[in-house]
Amino acid sequence: MTAQTDSDGDKDAAAAAAIEEVRDGMLIGLGTGSTAAHAIRRLGERVAGGLAIRAVATSHASATLAESLGIVVLDFADVPRIDLTIDGADEIDTRLYAVKGAGGAMLREKVVAEASDRMVVIADGSKRVAAIGTKAPVPVEILPFARAFVLRALGEAAVLRMAGDRPYLTDNGNLVADCRFDLADVVAVARRLEAIPGVLGHGLFLDQVDVAYIAEAGVVSRLERGDGAS
Ligand code: A5P
Repeated sequence: MTAQTDSDGDKDAAAAAAIEEVRDGMLIGLGTGSTAAHAIRRLGERVAGGLAIRAVATSHASATLAESLGIVVLDFADVPRIDLTIDGADEIDTRLYAVKGAGGAMLREKVVAEASDRMVVIADGSKRVAAIGTKAPVPVEILPFARAFVLRALGEAAVLRMAGDRPYLTDNGNLVADCRFDLADVVAVARRLEAIPGVLGHGLFLDQVDVAYIAEAGVVSRLERGDGAS
């Protein structure tokens, strides 16, 4: 049995707060990563207790976990909109700008977030930063056909993600470059990435997050867009 760390406790506390937003009949977007897994496990407990929800997942791993807990997981290809998505982040700031994608799921996470009426980020305190770009690199999903061209366009800030001695591949079969950009003008960086043919997505979430539950030493704070967030 693995010992629970303080950060596990905070991830679970943030997940528990977010799960309070889930209501009977909702279609829920399931994020990816260790924090989202806490939310999925808690949702599974509520489903076992009679909560009627359906879900879509942002990764094979999250779909497998959810199904193992009795949560009905739909194929997102058939789903035009979602009520509520709960997902983790690698960094989040008071503007509710987030960096996501350390787990490589940022493209599916972005699409699911955009399809959602409401997107909730859950995190332990280590993810809270004054302004994104402090700790986590920005992951960029790359069409393999365009690898060399896109890496040249991204410049020296980009490092191709590896899995052992092979390039890492996302659930979509694409490559990832982790990029240490200067994010002083983060909107311009996002627009520049979106203008490169062969870039399929990136981990800058500037418009998607509606609320964040961030737990530190067991205390959960809630930051809603509009409460001092842009
Ligand atoms: C997955 O690709 C990511 O966007 C995760 O949401 C993010 O990396 C947070 O993961 P942890 O909760 O494991 O830190």
